[in-house]
Amino acid sequence: DMGRVAESLGYGAYVVGGFVRDLFLYRPNEDIDIVIEGDGIAFAKAYALEFGTRIHTHKAFGTAVVIYPDGFKIDVATARLEYYRSPAALPDVEMSSIKLDLFRRDFTINTLAIQLIPDKFGRLLDFFSAQKDIKDKAIRVLHNLSFVEDPTRVFRALRFEQRFGFTIGKLTAALIDNAVKMDFFKRLSGRRVFTEIRLILEEDNPVPAIVRMGDFDLLKVIHPTIVINKALIALLEEVRGVIAWHDLLFVETPCMRWTVYLMGLIHANDMATCHEICRRLELATRYEALFCQERAAADHCLQQMEHRLPASAGALYHRLHPFRAELILYMMAATRVKAVKKAISKYYTELRKIEPLIGGNELIALGLTPGPLFRQILDAILDAKLNGALATREDEIQFARR
Ligand code: CTP
Repeated sequence: DMGRVAESLGYGAYVVGGFVRDLFLYRPNEDIDIVIEGDGIAFAKAYALEFGTRIHTHKAFGTAVVIYPDGFKIDVATARLEYYRSPAALPDVEMSSIKLDLFRRDFTINTLAIQLIPDKFGRLLDFFSAQKDIKDKAIRVLHNLSFVEDPTRVFRALRFEQRFGFTIGKLTAALIDNAVKMDFFKRLSGRRVFTEIRLILEEDNPVPAIVRMGDFDLLKVIHPTIVINKALIALLEEVRGVIAWHDLLFVETPCMRWTVYLMGLIHANDMATCHEICRRLELATRYEALFCQERAAADHCLQQMEHRLPASAGALYHRLHPFRAELILYMMAATRVKAVKKAISKYYTELRKIEPLIGGNELIALGLTPGPLFRQILDAILDAKLNGALATREDEIQFARR
């Protein structure tokens, strides 16, 4: 339908980029990007009028998002010839606007396009030997200025390389080395660096890409003190194990995986350096608190528990209750003491959710007057429950009576 609407306006229409790449890699991808040769916004408006979808438009970029009633979204962009006149890297040749649009992209594997216009529907455009590079499992830039144009592509190269099990091509690797040597990243805002690092840390298994960052001496964009060694890799693998454990047992519990990996990465740094890192990455204050104060408290708590395990389930509960899930997972990964790891896991799986079955109303029913005493009684009930002394509601009421 999109092809037909585009054709009726005299435009070309293509599905491009990651979606087409993933078709060739047999990987699922729900992000559909359309490029219109013509006016992408006029196209989206015409399409919305005919099919009753909502749209969002960004005039300045010539882009639009088509939003279907079920929430599914399709991104629409404009390939305009004038807009692309003489980019720095471009030799003086004529190109169709779709070809130019694809030439401006990061890696050859992302330059495939499929025709959507009815009588050419389904035809594949491969101007830059993307199919060959997919077959060769190679990440290659299209031209030597790619990382100059956009240094964040360096991080994308590592992310794609590890996600697909590809290898960065020789020339591309040399261009990355050059980008690192010339420190192209100092031009980037902390936000943009952080966004890329976070995307890496949110991959299914970020560890190999982190190791690759180390190979390219890229971890210095986080902080010069961070170096890859056996101990750090072992810690990151522990984080991965703990996150896998958490995903399996608590499918429904959201967890910011990337924060646990980042805590692992900066684990050896002192408080001042951690603050410096957070400021460099322009993290929100709540994240800064998580990575600095809260993580330091977790490390401190871990030290104490490694020195001496809490004597009772109640004591264990009170030790760990202040910490959010991500810190609990960090602690499980960071400890080298098996018994401590087991205790933390017991807290997380068994103790964390325990609370009194009765509340203020039951205490009033027992003839007690609401006040600070209530808190004390309920706390005492909680402790007794944690230590296994109370099972039923009846037990709790008996206990409160005493
Ligand atoms: N792109 C680019 N340079 C960037 C970011 C993106 O050239 N710094 C191009 C890529 O060619 C990509 C397209 O823009 O195909 C869309 O990028 P993105 O939304 O990141 O999609 P994917 O390539 O699918 O990446 P992911 O699978 O991680 O979403």
